Order: sequence, then structure tokens, then C-alpha cells
Amino acid sequence: MRRVYLDSNSTTRLDPRVLEAMLPFFKEYYGNPSNIHNFGRETKEAIEQARKKVSEFLKCDPLEIVFTSSGTESDNLALIGTYKAYGVQKDHLIISAVEHNAVRKAAYFLKKWHNVKVTELPVDRYGQVDPDDLQKAITDKTYLVSIMHVNNEVGTIQPIKECAEIAHKYGALFHTDAVASAGKLPLDVNELGVDLLTISAHKIHGPKGVGALYIRRGVQIESILYGGEQEFERRPGTENVPGIIGLGEAVKIADAELKAGMPQKIAALRDYLEAQITNNISEVCINGHPQNRVSNVLNVGFAYIEGEALLLNLDLEGIAVSSGSACSSGSGQPSHVLLAMRVPLKYINAPVRFSLDKYTTQKDLDYTIEVLIKVVKRLRAISPLGQI
Ligand SMILES: Cc1ncc(COP(=O)(O)O)c(C=O)c1O
Repeated sequence: MRRVYLDSNSTTRLDPRVLEAMLPFFKEYYGNPSNIHNFGRETKEAIEQARKKVSEFLKCDPLEIVFTSSGTESDNLALIGTYKAYGVQKDHLIISAVEHNAVRKAAYFLKKWHNVKVTELPVDRYGQVDPDDLQKAITDKTYLVSIMHVNNEVGTIQPIKECAEIAHKYGALFHTDAVASAGKLPLDVNELGVDLLTISAHKIHGPKGVGALYIRRGVQIESILYGGEQEFERRPGTENVPGIIGLGEAVKIADAELKAGMPQKIAALRDYLEAQITNNISEVCINGHPQNRVSNVLNVGFAYIEGEALLLNLDLEGIAVSSGSACSSGSGQPSHVLLAMRVPLKYINAPVRFSLDKYTTQKDLDYTIEVLIKVVKRLRAISPLGQI
């Protein structure tokens, strides 16, 4: 059976060049980077090379990069670590209603255990935050505003620069989760005007279990783990050396491919998929901003179908897609992103997120469309939700 992977926003296939770069750090170079002997110095030096690559990717200084275990940990460190540093004077946090759970749940933790006041900014029908709403919500008690650069479920791009300017006017820090934009849009922390920025390796053809947080020089942040002095005392724990090397290689490749026009190629395939779906299947709704969205995501709502049934039927034919965030799939709850966007009830039960990458081919899409037309027809014919 043909296998088609259209779930790159959940995770991506490791680029073979990344694997090659990592392998010596499993076999030959195994020293602990905290040791001053030769074995330790080798891996320490390799980590610093990777830090330099990440800093070039984000256009910042290498000393402003902290390696973590994931996008999730970077988001937690951004929200909780700055609260620990600034929370005595300020107790207000602003996030958007469409953040990934790594931000949402860290915010809810702060609310429940530290009495932080959390404001969730609404989004419009396309999933975009209105900077005027931020202007209305922010006060001189706001310590941090956290708004994702790109939404991972629908691909909508947020007005980060405008929002960061508003945050700074009120003396608040600004964090953005750039997990879904890395490799798809150029990232320049000064251009965006952010103080903190999260990336994750496994969304850009790097390994799982490694991420980074950009922390602007001068920003105070306290570690959320307790232990050693690694990562400038901001993230204790012996470093995941092969993972960090993999992240360094993954961002280097992503940067080169970005400059060579990879997102445009992927967008052409995504647009082809969208046209084929809208031309061949009735009563579908495209979720996300029609223009301000990244190249690789297409989120479609299908009326009169249950999402799980659609996903499972596609899976039986070898096609991997997801209903939104990998973390919320299987929960049976409508996506908080689609709810915040007020997607009509008719379309909210069966959202399918097709997320493409550099390995996606036209043949993959033609097969997907052929199967999708068949499956949607079959499910609608037996649907208890009405309409054939
Ligand atoms: C926008 C966004 N932020 C954070 C994360 C979490 O990253 P990780 O899987 O590295 O913990 C994800 C993963 O789905 C994501 O899509």
C-alpha cells in the first residue's frame, strides 16, 4: 500500500544530513561537556558550534541561545522563568486564545499556583489577534505577552512586530512560539522585536527531544529546573549532545532551503491540494487566513462527517493527516483553536490538517485526493449528521 505522510506539523522525517552530523556524537564523542578534560572539551566545542548555527538562524548572539529538551520546555521556561524573575512586581500575563498547550498550560499553572492574572486575547475568524485588543488588555502590571508567530493548526501568521511594540510600550516582555514558523518564514529576532523565542528541532527535519529558547541579552530569567550550571545556569542537566548537534545542522539546512525558495515550492503543492479539494468535494471550509498563512498548512473542515472516522479511514489507505495539534488529537474535544476562530458548528467536527514538507510530492497529493473523495462520499452516505 502507498504511504503518504501529510502530518509535518506533528513531526518531520529526519534529514539524512542531520543524522550524519549526529552519529559521531553517539559513537566517538561521548564526553560530558561539563568536564574539562579532552573528551569533555570536544563535545563542549561542538555544542558551541551548534549554538552559533542557531544564532545565525535567528540573527542573534550565540550567548542569547539556551538549549532545552523541546519546544514545550522552551515555552515553559519563557513563561515561568520570567515570572520567577519579574513576578514580585508584576502579576499579569497575556497570551492568545490559539496558543499551543505548551503555552496555555504553563499559563494555567501560573494562574492556579501563583495567582497570576491571565488574559487570553480573542482572535478573528481567520485566527488572527488584533493588536488593538492587546492595547486594551495590557497594563503596567503585565510582565509578559506571549503570542505565537504562526498557529500550528491553521497556519495563520500573527502580527508579532506590532504586538511586541505594544508590549514594550508598557514595559512588558514579549515571547513568541516560533515552532510552526521556523523554516517556513525568515526569523530575525530584532526585526520581529521579540525578547524570547521558541524553536523545536523535530519540526524542521531535526531530532525529537531538543529545542532552543532565544533570550535577549539583559532579560532576567530563572531556571525552572534545579541542578547543575549548564546553559548559563538557565537550564541545568547534562546536555543532549547529539540532539543539539542535530538541531544545529537542521537550522543550517532549513536556512539554506528557505533562501533557495523551498516554502514557495511547498505552497504551490498546498495550493494544488486546496484547489483539488474545493473543486471536487462540496461543503468544505478552509480554516485559516487566506493570505497570511504559512506555506505548508491546509486545514479543511468537512461537513456531515466525524473527524475521527475521516482520519481513521484515511489511515487505512496509508494517508497520515491529523485533526490539529498532535497533543489534542484523540481527545474527542473540538480544537480550542477552531472554537476561538468561531468556525461554524457544521465544519468543526471534522477538521483535517494537511501539513506538507520538502519531501511531499505531487503523486502523494494525487493519491490523497483520490482517496479523500471516495472516503468523504462513503462517510457522508452513512452519516447520522444529516445531508448526503
Ligand atoms: C506551536 C507549537 N509549540 C510548541 C510545540 C511543542 O514542541 P515539542 O514537540 O518540541 O515539545 C509544538 C508541537 O506540536 C507546536 O506545534
